[in-house]
Amino acid sequence: SMQGPNEVPFRFGPPVAVTTCSIMFQDITTLLLDPQAFRDTIDLFVERYKGKNISVVAGIEARGFIFGPPIALAIGAKFVPLRKPKKLPGEVISEEYVLEYGRDCLQMHVGAVEPGDRALVVDDLIATGGTLCAAMNLLERVGAQVVECACVIELPDLKGRERLHGKPLYVLVESH
Ligand code: PRP
Ligand code: MG
Repeated sequence: SMQGPNEVPFRFGPPVAVTTCSIMFQDITTLLLDPQAFRDTIDLFVERYKGKNISVVAGIEARGFIFGPPIALAIGAKFVPLRKPKKLPGEVISEEYVLEYGRDCLQMHVGAVEPGDRALVVDDLIATGGTLCAAMNLLERVGAQVVECACVIELPDLKGRERLHGKPLYVLVESH
């Protein structure tokens, strides 16, 4: 159990050690088991972003697909999925990035985001910041303005915030 800065109780499962490469991660699936806690989580983001003229919520596969769409619906923005390679059927632009456990790539449909769009990037968690950085690069390459990145959890010890081009990052809880 962790108490966030917003007085909302989040119940996460215990950190799970991936023993093959000794990476620790926080799991948000137990939060989803509590409808009130899940609703409170979405409401905190909606309260922050409604009325801010955000035209697109970009959600990062896979867990940004859980939190992004309800936020997009509530603030009246389009939802654009940023997906792992070879998942999107149309023409895509790609951005590679480095993870703690190797390389990966995010792709976005060409034409889904246009110059002048005001974007909010959503994911479950920021660790090293590589994933959010790649997402921001995709959006900025097509002329969108990234207004902010939003995550449920930050692992501040990894200093991922410093990789976000100086863009603001909003999180609900920090985990040390
Ligand atoms: C996890 C997490 C974030 C990312 C954060 O996703 O959901 O997207 O790592 O790490 P970073 O800040 O160091 O880039 P993962 O890449 O494991 O894939 P998944 O969400 O598809 O499971
Ligand atoms: Mg992820």
